[in-house]
Amino acid sequence: MRIPIFGRIKHGGIIISGILLSSLLFAACGNGNTLDPQGPVASSEAGLFWFILIVATIVFVAVEGMLIYSIVRYRARPNTPEPRQLHGNDTLEIIWTVAPSLFLFAVLAGTIYTMFQLQQPAGNHIEVQAIGHQWWWEFKYPAQNISTADTLYVPKDTVVQVDLVSNNVIHSFWIPKLAGKTDDIPGHNNHVWFKADQAGTYLGICAEYCGTQHAHMRFNVVVLNSVNDFNTWLSSEQQTAQTSTNALAAKGKQVFSGAGGCGGCHGIVGVNIANWSDNNTTTGLPVTSLVGPNLTHFGSRSLIAGGVLAASEGHTWMDDPACSVASGHIADKAKCGLYQWLHDPQGVKPGNDMNIGQLTDDQIDALAAYLESLK
Ligand code: CUA
Repeated sequence: MRIPIFGRIKHGGIIISGILLSSLLFAACGNGNTLDPQGPVASSEAGLFWFILIVATIVFVAVEGMLIYSIVRYRARPNTPEPRQLHGNDTLEIIWTVAPSLFLFAVLAGTIYTMFQLQQPAGNHIEVQAIGHQWWWEFKYPAQNISTADTLYVPKDTVVQVDLVSNNVIHSFWIPKLAGKTDDIPGHNNHVWFKADQAGTYLGICAEYCGTQHAHMRFNVVVLNSVNDFNTWLSSEQQTAQTSTNALAAKGKQVFSGAGGCGGCHGIVGVNIANWSDNNTTTGLPVTSLVGPNLTHFGSRSLIAGGVLAASEGHTWMDDPACSVASGHIADKAKCGLYQWLHDPQGVKPGNDMNIGQLTDDQIDALAAYLESLK
């Protein structure tokens, strides 16, 4: 007799290999790979994943093995009597009740052990607020009194405590190689911590659906080599905005403050905010009501709008060759993300808060020169 399930195995094989291959492909997505942890928090979490996978594999192989053995060994054949029936066998009943409980207790123990390991170590740490906006991340360093966007800077080998804040919807803060997902809930301040073993740039993602542009809410975590490098970065961030002597940049500053209307949503310290601790803009608006990122050091950034646009590989906006305004005009409008953003922010990222009137190319050239001068 032909058992139908065996007739499908060829197909099943193709489907299973397909799934395995695609999971391998996704696993190879370098910077988002949770199984390549680069710090103690992600390592513990990856360790728990492997532990549960091993337990689940043992259960799977044992159960499926017995199932397949029974199907083959006790299949119906001509002239064979009905096999011995096991119903009511107390020993077997006890074994298959106790064995799964043991496996589940092992998983519980592993999980509780990991939870204890994930307590934030006492002692020195850096505190950062990660504020989830729709749809980009603001990073505030309360002790240092600065605010930046899209890129979180930290030194390596240092405990970073991240206070998760949202005043809109629930987001989820996730740095796959450094720390698992933690929800960012309005009215409830969550915390997560991480430590990076290696300097480098790590991908951060919003991992909770938070609206149409949820997928475009990425950020970078730049891990600097030492606390000294970090302090150097902090003190340059704490400066007020540079005033460029370039005529085009000066024109851009006028567009920012005037016709562009940028100052209604964005703050630049030294321009429409007097200093980093000032709570009001020069127009009397409370700084907290500004819905866009603080642009004081925009030129030194490389991402905008939740990572939907990036400067050319390895460049910041101020040295992006495509966005160079050395000739008085943006060098390559098609390749310059900053141009595309200022030209049509709703086309690039529909539904975002940047609703502006159409700027002329001349205004954009000037704004780009100005923004790039904000180092
Ligand atoms: Cu924020 Cu998804």
